[in-house]
Amino acid sequence: MHQKEKHEKSGFGSRLGFILAAAGSAVGLGNIWRFPYLAAKYGGGIFLLVYLIFAVTFGFALMITEISIGRRTGKSVIHAYTAMDKHFAPLGWLAGAIPVIILPYYCVIGGWVLKYLTTFAVGSGHQAADSGDFFTGFIGQAGMPTLFFGIFILLTGAVVMLGVQKGIEKVSKILMPVLFLLIVGIGIYTLTLPGAMDGLIYYVKPDFSEFSIKTVIAAMGQLFYSMSLAMGIMITYGSYMRKEDNIERSVRQIEIFDTAVAFLAGMIIVPAVFVFSGGDKSALNAGPSLMFITLPNVFDSMAGGQIVGAVFFILVALAALTSSISLMETVVSMISERFGLKRIPSCLIVMGVSFLIGLLSIFGYSIWSDFTIFKMQILDFFDFISNNIMMPIVALLTCILVGFVVKTKYVEDEVELNAKFKSRQLYRIMVKYVCPICMLVILFSSLFITL
Ligand code: PFF
Repeated sequence: MHQKEKHEKSGFGSRLGFILAAAGSAVGLGNIWRFPYLAAKYGGGIFLLVYLIFAVTFGFALMITEISIGRRTGKSVIHAYTAMDKHFAPLGWLAGAIPVIILPYYCVIGGWVLKYLTTFAVGSGHQAADSGDFFTGFIGQAGMPTLFFGIFILLTGAVVMLGVQKGIEKVSKILMPVLFLLIVGIGIYTLTLPGAMDGLIYYVKPDFSEFSIKTVIAAMGQLFYSMSLAMGIMITYGSYMRKEDNIERSVRQIEIFDTAVAFLAGMIIVPAVFVFSGGDKSALNAGPSLMFITLPNVFDSMAGGQIVGAVFFILVALAALTSSISLMETVVSMISERFGLKRIPSCLIVMGVSFLIGLLSIFGYSIWSDFTIFKMQILDFFDFISNNIMMPIVALLTCILVGFVVKTKYVEDEVELNAKFKSRQLYRIMVKYVCPICMLVILFSSLFITL
């Protein structure tokens, strides 16, 4: 009874709450901003196909692993790895450092989204519809981006301070269904625009001539990013999961939710850009600026575009918020466990420090714009070092730890606490052989192709 009470105070109260919170973490800027431009760049349907194959194989195995580690150890990321094998303590620190790096710049981008949201909401969306001057003008200042970034961190912190059940779970249960309805709504609207069908066909039809090793690497990297893997988040959320809930089924549902939102985001963006550009595919090659430069133009040119634009940016803001909440919760759980602090003081410390680190990214585009690291701006560098270098290393070492040190039984036993592990054979092969090879491929391609 005592155990149960303790558990109810600190963990998720229901399986649905857990799934929606984990899906909230997974569904983020990665789905709405990154997935569509990658899909457009790497051959449409062929990218989707490769992505789906990875999602149900190695993404599935990695997520099962992390959630099981979290639930079995009941600890935050630093101590979870130490509890499994004390030689792997440095891995806990490395994994724990990742959300510390990502949270600040993620909130900076969250701030940009808030800026666009307010611009469209007050009916000034046409200001953002130009060849990029609005965007570069905005991020080129120090003051405004700091203000929106500050608001975004405060919103994130407010939810995390309320705790796992009263904050994260409650907010996810409201925001995730809203997010899904919004995305379906805008999707239906854009598909009714004349010419949208050609864009949809381009998006879903595999173009095998576009297939290359880069498609594979991009899909693998995106999966990682999108599922919030290898940065301690799923370990943290797993540590709050109830023992009676089914891990395998939950992971499938989180993956379906995440992939559906990414797919729908592409289904909005690719056809909308097609209509706008009169079928010119090169408009889709805008890369990261697709969301902040191309799309505002698209909205500005469509009937009801102010409203569609405002709703779209609300959707992106909600997606980003539930993800930044998970990043912050991961850091807060480490700090409070490590230093024995309560939730609110830990949260205030994390907010303060993240604010200071985030300023580096903001200044990197404004007052320090001449300063680059490996030819990258500060924000891009943080993104690169965490996603392309640290995360593959963490995933690789986690697979080695689970596959060969504590053995896959460590995870299998946790999954089988209340149900049969249906994909156990697949899981073993993935964790021991396929995932480590995939991680090495990502790591080497980042080092040799990007740098
Ligand atoms: N999975 C979330 C997204 O797709 O945006 C959260 C996230 C992933 C944040 C990776 C940051 C990151 F580097």
